[in-house]
Amino acid sequence: MRIDGLTKTYGLMGNPVEHTLSPVIHNTLAEITQKNLVYLPFQVEKKDLQNAVRGAFSLGIQGLNVTVPHKENIMPYLYETDELARRIGAVNTLVRTAEGYKGYNTDMPGLYRAMLSDDMIVDGRKVIILGAGGVARAVAFMLYDKAEKIIILNRTLQKAEAIAAEVNDYAGKSIAGAVPLTSYTTLMNEKYLVIQTTNVGMYPHEEDALITDKNFYKNIQIGYDLIYNPKETMFMKLVREAGGQAYCGLKMLLYQGIIAFELWNGCKISKEQADMVYERLKECL
Ligand code: ATR
Repeated sequence: MRIDGLTKTYGLMGNPVEHTLSPVIHNTLAEITQKNLVYLPFQVEKKDLQNAVRGAFSLGIQGLNVTVPHKENIMPYLYETDELARRIGAVNTLVRTAEGYKGYNTDMPGLYRAMLSDDMIVDGRKVIILGAGGVARAVAFMLYDKAEKIIILNRTLQKAEAIAAEVNDYAGKSIAGAVPLTSYTTLMNEKYLVIQTTNVGMYPHEEDALITDKNFYKNIQIGYDLIYNPKETMFMKLVREAGGQAYCGLKMLLYQGIIAFELWNGCKISKEQADMVYERLKECL
C-alpha cells in the first residue's frame, strides 16, 4: 500500500474496536480494486460521538462504518438518514455528502446478499428468528416481504410480540408471530429456515446453544447463525448433526462491508472479488 497526498481516508467508529475485521475487508477491497484509500479503526467514547462526527467531516473523511455502541445514537448527528436505516432504527455506514454524512444500514442487505451468494432461497420460506433484540428486529424487517411466515422465538415474550406487531403493522398483514422460548416444541411439525440472532454460543462460550434439545433441530433445513466467532457454533453443529445446512455470520459481515464499499466508491464488487476477501477474512479469524 502506498499512501500519498491523494489517499482518501475511511474508517470505523465504535468502542471497542481492537478486534474488528472491517479494516481487513476494506483494505483488501482497496487493493483488489486499485483504489487509493485507507481504512482505519477509531475508538470513540459515547460522550464524544457528536464531536467525532463533526471532526471526521472537517478532516475530510470520506466514509465511516459505525458499530457498537453507536449505531442508534449516531442518527441525530447525521445530515440525512436513508429510509431503510430509519425503519431499522440503526445506522452502520456513513456516506459523505456536500452537507454532511448520510446514514445507511448495510447489515440487512448484507445478510440477504450473503444468503443469495450461498444460493439460499429465502422467499416463501417459514422462518424462525431466535432472539428479539435489535438485530432480530432488523432481520424481521428484512424478511417481511419475502418469507411466508416469521416466528420470533424469545425468552422474553413481550419483546418478540412487540417486534411481530411492528412488522405486521408495517406489512399490512399478519406475517409475523411471537412464541416464548420455552414453547419451542410447538414448532416441530414444519420445516424451517432458522436465523440465530442472540449472542449465546459466542466466544468464549462456544459450548452454549440457546436450545440444546436435539429434536428441535430435526426440522431445521437451514440454520444461519449471525455469530462468526467461533466459525462453527454449537447451534451450527446441532443443525448439521440433525441433517440441516448451517452457516455462520462471516459472510454477512463480509457483504455489509462490500455494500458500504460500493456506496462509497460507486462501484460493484464481483462474486470473485468477494470470495478473495472472504478467504482473507477466514485467515484472520
Ligand atoms: P442485539 O442488539 O445484538 O440483538 P440485544 O438487544 O441485547 O442484542 O438482544 C439479545 C437477544 O438475545 C435478546 O432477545 C435476549 O433475550 P431477552 O429478550 O429475553 O433478553 C437474547 N438472549 C441473550 N442471552 C440469552 C440467554 N442466555 N438465554 C436466552 N436468550 C438470550
